Amino acid sequence: MLSRRSFLTNVAAAALLPSALETTSITGSNSLKAHAERRGLLAGTAVDVHILNTNAAYRNLLAEQYDIVVAENQMKWKALRPAADKFDFTAADQLVAFARENHMQVRGHNLAWHQSIPDWLTSSITKDNARQFLTDHILTVGRRYAGKIHSWDVVNEAVQPKDNRPDGLRNSLWMQMLGPEYLDIAFRTARQADPHARLTYNDYGVEYDGKEDTDRRTAVLALLRRLQAAKVPLDAVGIQSHINARPKNPIGKGLADFLAEIRRMGLEIYITELDVSDDDIEGGIEERDQAIAAAYRNYLDLVLQEPAVKAVLTWGSDDNHTWLNDVPTHKKKQPNRAARPLPFDTNYQPKPAFFAMREDFDHVPRRKATKTAH
Ligand code: XIL
Repeated sequence: MLSRRSFLTNVAAAALLPSALETTSITGSNSLKAHAERRGLLAGTAVDVHILNTNAAYRNLLAEQYDIVVAENQMKWKALRPAADKFDFTAADQLVAFARENHMQVRGHNLAWHQSIPDWLTSSITKDNARQFLTDHILTVGRRYAGKIHSWDVVNEAVQPKDNRPDGLRNSLWMQMLGPEYLDIAFRTARQADPHARLTYNDYGVEYDGKEDTDRRTAVLALLRRLQAAKVPLDAVGIQSHINARPKNPIGKGLADFLAEIRRMGLEIYITELDVSDDDIEGGIEERDQAIAAAYRNYLDLVLQEPAVKAVLTWGSDDNHTWLNDVPTHKKKQPNRAARPLPFDTNYQPKPAFFAMREDFDHVPRRKATKTAH
């Protein structure tokens, strides 16, 4: 039995150190995925398969914390298509096998994008052969993983109002070769290849109030309406959510109304690439981590009120590896400082952002069971 004195000391310590006591366990029923699952949500992350293959700490973290994974790069064209007549599924297969062993789901990312276009494709594509290239790719990749994919980002980032087309679509290679119908072709072919995956349109720059994101939201909604009117198979919208700890514009009504409109169209919503840039935050690690956690909290408080949002994936799990360190335009103010955008630090320990996510999951409405796939 505890003496009265040590009981009081323990009580005093608990009162002083509530967060220290909370952090004693972040596994099992205290993991991110356990908290997400209690709300009918999926917690996920983008995975670098090369790190997966070489780093046990990384593998353990993923297996412990997440319900769903997506390849950061290894299912993109450049990774899968070393040559016109070759597919290389080595890394993508490894991710799917890892997910299966650990009872995780997999998002497919992506089948058509203006980036990650192999040089051989740029030099051999024509208006006559483009459709064949696109459908062959989607049929081969989609069929290989058919039945194993929760949702496919069939088309990624098709909207770019700054390209000045009346429909707000991006003047990408696929657009130049096939016109806006490339989207219809991609989605119809994806359904044919994998009737069970939820077919997703994924985009960025739709999060903030302010003209630029408002224009992008308008263009995305117009695109979704056009696809639905044409009876193109479409199940979900991915909101990338690369956000900032100190944004120019607030996150608010624009995003909430956008998500509600997508729900009214009968579509699910996934937060697909969440991370928080702290490039604009000066100060020590503690200050930066608090600002980053506040951005996670503010963002998730808003989007998780929307019942159509069924999954939250961050674009990486830990600060050892984040694309924000590789993209100069994301590091204008602090080019030589490592970014801290993710829920775990470089020692795979939880950061304030992790606790912000977990607490947010606890406060949001419970989702109904996700509709069965096709
Ligand atoms: C990024 C990867 O994180 C980088 O490693 C790669 O060099 C470029 O692509 N939107 C997307 C993702 O849909 O595919 C991008 O991933 C990040 C922005």
